[in-house]
Amino acid sequence: MGHQDYPSLTLSSSHRQILGRQYLVTDPYTKDAVLIDTVLDYDPASGTLSTATADGILAFVRHHGFHVTKILETHAHADHLTASQYIKHHLPGDIPICIGERIAQVQKHFGPVYGLAPQNLSMSFDVFLKDDDVFMIGSLPVQVLHLPGHTPDHVGYLVGKSVFTGDSIFMPDLGSARADFPGGDARALYRSLQKLLSLPDDYEIFVGHDYPNGRDKNCATTVVEQREHNKHVKSGTTERDFVDFRTTRDKVLKAPRLIHPSLQVNVRAGRLPPPDPTTGLSYFRTPLYGALNI
Ligand SMILES: [Fe+2]
Repeated sequence: MGHQDYPSLTLSSSHRQILGRQYLVTDPYTKDAVLIDTVLDYDPASGTLSTATADGILAFVRHHGFHVTKILETHAHADHLTASQYIKHHLPGDIPICIGERIAQVQKHFGPVYGLAPQNLSMSFDVFLKDDDVFMIGSLPVQVLHLPGHTPDHVGYLVGKSVFTGDSIFMPDLGSARADFPGGDARALYRSLQKLLSLPDDYEIFVGHDYPNGRDKNCATTVVEQREHNKHVKSGTTERDFVDFRTTRDKVLKAPRLIHPSLQVNVRAGRLPPPDPTTGLSYFRTPLYGALNI
């Protein structure tokens, strides 16, 4: 079956920045649905949060009468803030927020950087998914695929012939995600990409980002297109070639602009830092590296 048989909706943030692909996947017969990688709008210069994009998703869900049963993350994103907690609190039922179980490694690394209490982190998500776990969206089985490399916790979701790959593989002309975040590993990423490329030819790959240059934005390809054309891992690319390329490339990439706000929210399943008792405002922390010689 093609994805017309397993309908999915892809949404880009309506904010000025292109923040990430968000997906709603539904069983059209039962109207059960999951949301994948929802996004809050955030302007770091003014410190302004907006739920405009998330409210659009909520309106769409309500309009179509979908019953969201799970809010899924592919990983703790470093370039946008998840709207999972907001979505959870604005839809009926206690919808579980789910992430790969290796989020614990990411929390262990970043918790101390931002002064986050370990007990709050371990309680933050509702479900920690194991590799190859299977759950249902109505009558559709979903398989959890561990796809480490970009981050250690990274998972994809295989639904019928559609796989939602987060930040692992990108559109063929863009190639692959970076692998230099803490716990990232170019070798592991190569193996994750091989796992995706070993799926049948006609399986559809829905990516987590798209940064087109000279073409329209897109979100989906097929496994065979990726095998034949992926800029970084098309057929015949050896692990050594990929790792050499990825490592060299990652050395010149800058940290994502929203890395610190994103991680402080995303390792806590979308919760904001508690407000300061004096001002009543929440603040993000930015660690300083380097020192003044005074
Ligand atoms: Fe990412």
